[in-house]
Amino acid sequence: MKVKIAPSMLAADFLHLEKSVDIVNKYADMFHLDVMDGSLVPNISFGFPIVEAIAPVAKKMMDAHLMIVHPERYIERFSKVGVKMLSVHYEAVRDPEPILGLIKSFGMKAGLAFNPDVPVEKIIPYLYACDFVLVMSVYAGFGGQKFIEETYDRIRTIKQAIDENKFRCRIEVDGGVSPENAHRLIECGADMLVAGSAVFKAEDPAAVIAAMRP
Ligand code: DX5
Ligand code: ZN
Repeated sequence: MKVKIAPSMLAADFLHLEKSVDIVNKYADMFHLDVMDGSLVPNISFGFPIVEAIAPVAKKMMDAHLMIVHPERYIERFSKVGVKMLSVHYEAVRDPEPILGLIKSFGMKAGLAFNPDVPVEKIIPYLYACDFVLVMSVYAGFGGQKFIEETYDRIRTIKQAIDENKFRCRIEVDGGVSPENAHRLIECGADMLVAGSAVFKAEDPAAVIAAMRP
């Protein structure tokens, strides 16, 4: 699979959202939508009004990253607004398997996201049930944080487990991703790169997106 670049709309210009949407439509591969509830993570971002505003003009796939407790309550609604990839946090669910199944039952790709302090060994038993994992390279909650270097090893470990078992699970990385670390992340096994600040705070977002591609 070609490496996909997913700009995080958390760093978009909300006063001129169309401009940020255009950048993704023209130069990137998917919309990364960070939904935070102020409970699982210490920040509140946006919810359905923003996702619904983007949906009819999105020419690229919508990938929603739910940083919320009780994500199972909202799965159907995200599928109805046109989200194609949906991830829930390991820390938010007691048992990941049923919820991953629920996400798939609505025709979406199911992802399991997890923070840097979750040992990868906890995630490996669920790889078989995931269409993708979302490896956090910062603590979920805020854009613009510094990339955590241990992420490279964590991705390698997950990639190895996927390959050894021939699972069909993709690897998405999220947090502090930029052209400086993108290539090494791809070498380690990342298939999808989420980047917020690096793209939207740049003078030339198109050039930043191009520079992250292999
Ligand atoms: C953090 C979010 C990220 C964030 C990435 O909780 O999941 O998607 O927006 O932003 P940058 O690329 O600025 O770290
Ligand atoms: Zn995210």
